[in-house]
Amino acid sequence: MKRQILVTNALPYANGPLHLGHMLGYIQADVWVRFQRMRGHEVYYVCADDTHGTPIMLRAQREGIALEQLIASMQVEHARDFADFGIGFDNYYSTHTPENRQFAELIYTRLRDGGHIERREVEQLYDPEAGMFLPDRFIKGTCPRCGAEDQYGDSCEVCGATYAPTELIDPRSAVSGAVPVLRRSEHYFFKLGDFERFLRNWLKEGEHVQPEIANKLREWFEAGLRDWDISRDAPYFGFEIPDAPGKYFYVWLDAPIGYMASFKNLCERIGLDFDAWWRPDTATELYHFIGKDIAYFHTLFWPAMLHGAGFRTPTAIWCNGFLTVDGQKMSKSRGTFIKARTWLEHLAPDYLRYYFAAKLGAGVDDLDLNLEDFVNRVNADLVGKVVNIASRTASFINKRFDNRLADELPDMGLYRAFADSRDQIAQLYERREYAQAMRLIMGLADRANQYIDENKPWVLIKDPERLAEVQAVCTQGLNLFRVIIGYLKPVLPRIAEKVETFFGVGELSWDGVTEPVLGRKVEKFKPLLTRVDPDRIKAIIEASKEDLQTATVAAHEAAPLVADPIAEQIDFDAFAKVDLRVARILKAEEVEGADKLLRLILDLGGETRQVFAGIKSAYAPQQLEGRLTVMVANLAPRKMRFGVSEGMVLAAGPGGKDIFILEPDAGAEPGMRVK
Ligand code: MSP
Ligand code: ZN
Repeated sequence: MKRQILVTNALPYANGPLHLGHMLGYIQADVWVRFQRMRGHEVYYVCADDTHGTPIMLRAQREGIALEQLIASMQVEHARDFADFGIGFDNYYSTHTPENRQFAELIYTRLRDGGHIERREVEQLYDPEAGMFLPDRFIKGTCPRCGAEDQYGDSCEVCGATYAPTELIDPRSAVSGAVPVLRRSEHYFFKLGDFERFLRNWLKEGEHVQPEIANKLREWFEAGLRDWDISRDAPYFGFEIPDAPGKYFYVWLDAPIGYMASFKNLCERIGLDFDAWWRPDTATELYHFIGKDIAYFHTLFWPAMLHGAGFRTPTAIWCNGFLTVDGQKMSKSRGTFIKARTWLEHLAPDYLRYYFAAKLGAGVDDLDLNLEDFVNRVNADLVGKVVNIASRTASFINKRFDNRLADELPDMGLYRAFADSRDQIAQLYERREYAQAMRLIMGLADRANQYIDENKPWVLIKDPERLAEVQAVCTQGLNLFRVIIGYLKPVLPRIAEKVETFFGVGELSWDGVTEPVLGRKVEKFKPLLTRVDPDRIKAIIEASKEDLQTATVAAHEAAPLVADPIAEQIDFDAFAKVDLRVARILKAEEVEGADKLLRLILDLGGETRQVFAGIKSAYAPQQLEGRLTVMVANLAPRKMRFGVSEGMVLAAGPGGKDIFILEPDAGAEPGMRVK
């Protein structure tokens, strides 16, 4: 039976780059999707950037960029990282879209009209300077339990206590540094408790969640389902609530609706019937792959929202565990907080896809990327076992038999045994037991290698009488290899593609492996994968440490100019390296989309430089043109969203209107050294 399957992955926050921890869940889902496609089902796979909320709003402010521009560039960056990791979404969309607004409003009004929304005043910490209510994470202070300083408003990283932000001792706003005050405001609540019976039944009626998550759900039911605060006050980046000016949907309300929005957008593009997939009685299947940290949103709020608004509920929600590197949480200082892009710059994604698959089960256990084990495992399995089968046989076919495969297999029984494994392997993929599937497949690779070892084509080739045997043995080896690659195709799509080209008989499908390829010409065999050089791993770790340094510099530059306490000391040598020069401001202009930046063209006595400076609050461009300033002339150029900044001008002051460009004494000339 042909199934109709819609698969989603959690929507990554638009607020930062993707890292290897993210990639775990995306690779897991992508493998499942590719497997289902190979089986001939109708499968759609969608995702989007999760764009709304306070952190992204503050980031845009800090960087002086328009929000739309920031989320647009993040979306492009994320989509590219996914594509380069072989994640084959049919649509990669955004939650800041008309479709998403429309569905958010629709679901909200249906819930409201059903009596599931309630309004209540709440008291919350407010930053009087920034003029905004503060999310817990944006309040810092001393832990009320252990006295550790500089802890977040919801929990203490030192003693692990959780508390209300109002309990913090000496609280400060992380936005402005101001002392927050309590303020009342009306909030909108989704009455989750209305759906307790529905949710309990939903849990009982089938395997919608993994057993571990079902246990969690039972705990949550016991603890009581609390109303969910779905509104936030302006200023907030999100969708305004239809009947409530100045109130916005909390980001987590419209985030999962983004699955629908992305699918709707795909439907419009390729002509699918959206309603057929989302009406309550649909026979289509819907799967959400998510990380375990966001189970509450997906297994309680989301099915309740969908049910309350008259939509279908998910067939299943599958959680992945968290990624650790060398047994520990990813760490910026150890260089194990590895961005997806950093990985791609040094290593092919296939290695990581295989390693994850080789360790993934259906449970929610964390997965450790042990870097030494990684190198050994992918080299032993992919290069030593799988690719080896082809490299030991293809060259004979290419060089000695004019690329032609034999007309018959010498050991049809062995081939059948390989092809007959497909149901067992399929079941494992279906159940997301990839590690077990990989073990079976590697078992087949061992048998294929054993077959070649026993038949020794490299010995036979020396005997002119036995050439036909060599051709037969190599044909057997290559066909066994082809079956193995078929089984690995969900994990290694690019390698599978190269192998498809090599055989030239079309795409490998799940059942297509039952037919061997015989009596025809193949292409010249090209190397598929090389061994991972451990130095590549070292380079990734080093680059990740560097990422940390540039990130810190960028954060300093982006921070508002406030009178900081004297920073850490540097020695004279470090100071001497700074090349300070007098520069004339030839041109100053506003930067479109940036709130704080001016673009300056500086004359360094012959040489001109472009510099972006965060001084717009203090100077109008025309006030600056023609004036002299002091700049750091040997600062490495830095790519910003608006262009490359080739240095930095020196300024001081508390910020706002009071930022003073440092001007040298009269008589200075552009290009002069300042020290
Ligand atoms: N925006 C929300 C999801 C909204 S879904 C309607 C979010 N974004 S996230 O960027 O923080 O995470 C995206 C996905 O990556 C989530 O499934 C999350 O669980 C997963 N992971 C983030 N860090 C991870 C690890 N270190 N390890 C494994 N998965 C991780 O949550
Ligand atoms: Zn504490």
